[in-house]
Amino acid sequence: MKINRREFIKTGVAAGTLITGAGALFTSCSGITRADLPLGQASNVAMAGLDKRRLSILKYASLAPSGHNSQPWLIKIIDGNKWAIAADPARRLPAVDPNNREIMLSLGAFAENLSLAAGTFGFRTDMDIIAESSFDQAIIEVTLKESKSEDYPLERITRRRTVKHGLLPKEIKKEDVTALSGHLKGHLFYFPRGTEHAQCIEEGAIENFRIQSNQDKAQKELVKWVRLSNVDAKQHRDGLTTASMEIHGVTGWFVRNFSKPEDFLKDSYRQHGVKLTAKLARQGGGWFIITSKGNTVADLIDTGRKFERLALMARERNIAIHPMTQYLEEKEGRQQIADNHDASIIPQFVLRVGYLSKYPDPVSLRRPVEWFVTT
Ligand SMILES: Cc1cc2nc3c(=O)[nH]c(=O)nc-3n(C[C@H](O)[C@H](O)[C@H](O)COP(=O)(O)O)c2cc1C
Repeated sequence: MKINRREFIKTGVAAGTLITGAGALFTSCSGITRADLPLGQASNVAMAGLDKRRLSILKYASLAPSGHNSQPWLIKIIDGNKWAIAADPARRLPAVDPNNREIMLSLGAFAENLSLAAGTFGFRTDMDIIAESSFDQAIIEVTLKESKSEDYPLERITRRRTVKHGLLPKEIKKEDVTALSGHLKGHLFYFPRGTEHAQCIEEGAIENFRIQSNQDKAQKELVKWVRLSNVDAKQHRDGLTTASMEIHGVTGWFVRNFSKPEDFLKDSYRQHGVKLTAKLARQGGGWFIITSKGNTVADLIDTGRKFERLALMARERNIAIHPMTQYLEEKEGRQQIADNHDASIIPQFVLRVGYLSKYPDPVSLRRPVEWFVTT
C-alpha cells in the first residue's frame, strides 16, 4: 500500500507529532580537533579586499555541516558586497551523490550560517539562486547591504555539531518538536522511537548502510575523505578524523597510529561499521524526516538552510542530530520509499535524533577562509 502525503502526515500525528508548521595535544590520546586548528587567523589577513567583518562572516558560514565534511563551497568575491557561492567540483562525491543533491543541501547550510552571521555583523543579505542545474558551478549570488545589526547568538553556530553516540532513549518533547519545526512548515516529520514507522526507518537505515558498505565505489570515495593521521588532518583540514567519527580512547589512538584510510576497504572494517551503525540506529528518541517541495536547486538550497536552522536550535535544546543518508543514496532505499509513499513526499534528510546528557564540543575540522575564497 502506498502512503500518500495525508497518510504520511497522519502517521506522524498518530505517532505523537507531525509538525506543521596545533596544539599540544597533537601527539596525545585525542587526535586533532577543531580547537587545535583555530580559524581565527583568517580575520587578521586582508584578503580579496575583504575586511575583518566580512572574513568573520565567511568563517561562521564555513562551520556548516557537509557530507563527509567535504566542505564543497568556493566563494568568488565579485566585490566587497557581492559574492557568488559556488560548488567546488574537486569536492564532489560522485559515488554517493551523483546528482549533487547533498552538495546543494550543504551549500544551503553554508548560506544560512552566512546570512545569520551577516545579520549580526550589520548586513542584510539578499540571496539569488543563479544556477539552473545542480551541475552549474556558481549557485547563489549574495548581496550584502549595510543594515541594523540583528542579535543572533553566533555561539550557536560555533557550538553545533553532528553527534552519533549517547543519544538517550527518550521521546522528543512536543514543545521541542514544535519549536524545531517552526520554519519547516509541514516539511518536518517526527517518528518517535518504538513506533511502527520509526522501526521501518531504523531497519532501512541499517540495511542501506550495509548495502553501501559493500560497494567498493562508495567505500573508495569514503577513503579519500578519511584523515586518520594528525599530519593528514592538519594538511587537509576537512574530511573525517577519528574524533569526528567518534572513535575515541585507545581504539582512536590505535586507528590514528596503526591504520591507513585504505583499511576501511577491508571486510573486517566494513563489518564493524555495519555492526556499529545497527547499534547506533537503535538508540535515541526516534527519527526526523525533512522533506522538500521539489527537487530544483532552489528547493534544495532552501531545505539545506532550514536544516541548518533546525540543527542550530536542536543544539540549544541538547538534542543530537545524526544524518543517516545512505537510505537516500542507495537505489534500494529510494525505491523502498517510492514504493510506499506517493510522489508528493520528497525526503531530503533522514535524521536520527535524541536528547544528550551532555552536548559535546565540536571537533570536525574546517579549512581557513583563505583556502576557499577566490577573486
Ligand atoms: C547532506 C549531508 C549528509 C550527511 N550524511 C551523513 C551521514 O550519512 N552519516 C553521518 O554520520 N553524518 C552525515 N552528515 C554529517 C557530516 O558528516 C558532518 O556535518 C561533517 O562531518 C561535519 O561535522 P559537523 O557536523 O560536526 O560540523 C551529513 C551532513 C550533510 C550536510
